[in-house]
Amino acid sequence: MRDRPLAPLLAPSLAEARLPRDAGARAVVLRARDAVAAGERPADTHFDDLLPAALKAHAARHFTPVADALRVGAWLDDLGVGSILDVGSGAGKLCVVAAIAAPRCRFLGIEQRSGLVEVARSIAARFELDDRVSFVEGSIGVAGLPAVEAYYLFNPFGENLLPSGERLDEDVELGDDRYDRDVREAEALLESAPPGTVLITHNGFGGRVPAAFEQLAFAPCAAGALVLRRRRRRPV
Ligand SMILES: C[S@@+](CC[C@H](N)C(=O)[O-])C[C@H]1O[C@@H](n2cnc3c(N)ncnc32)[C@H](O)[C@@H]1O
Repeated sequence: MRDRPLAPLLAPSLAEARLPRDAGARAVVLRARDAVAAGERPADTHFDDLLPAALKAHAARHFTPVADALRVGAWLDDLGVGSILDVGSGAGKLCVVAAIAAPRCRFLGIEQRSGLVEVARSIAARFELDDRVSFVEGSIGVAGLPAVEAYYLFNPFGENLLPSGERLDEDVELGDDRYDRDVREAEALLESAPPGTVLITHNGFGGRVPAAFEQLAFAPCAAGALVLRRRRRRPV
């Protein structure tokens, strides 16, 4: 599993249409896109500076760092994964950044907070990735989920157990009961996943990964570890 140069991404004709009118925001978008188009590794600020201030304050804690997202993208690309669902996609950071490193993969995020879905869609559009990076509002266990080749879980339910000052907001149901329900839903999702399904966890998800998933790679990271697994084609 390797690092690779980033392919130029952006079509100049479309680029102008997607730029915000506000001069400050416009400069931030241009800086991020120029870096990626030049084949540079984007920095966390290239994404986080696009977030509204209230969300930016939470980015380091709640959203996947760029270096980890690029590793996820490289893993997906190496395995030839064609589609992935980010369970709890937040502001879209994992999907947008990993999509830069996995140009053959479609990314879908499901996110319970409508405001985050809007932010994620807008950032995907600014990076001109919205043809293969999309977001739906919903909660696992309530919304139907599409068939995908891979799942990504960055400890999405951990926020339920945090003190209120460390949560993204208090606008959704949070707490021990929600945590237990969501962890059980994620376990059921993985139990029913077909052979060949790829699973990438980032600091786990609080539940048990079925034994049918074999570990393919492990990478320590700031939040704990990234683990790449794939469901065996034959029962264990
Ligand atoms: C730790 S953040 C990860 C964000 C994103 N995956 C990333 O890596 O940048 C977890 C996100 O999951 C969302 N979430 C938590 N439980 C959820 C559920 N049951 N259904 C949908 N989204 C959920 C939260 O609102 C939060 O935005």
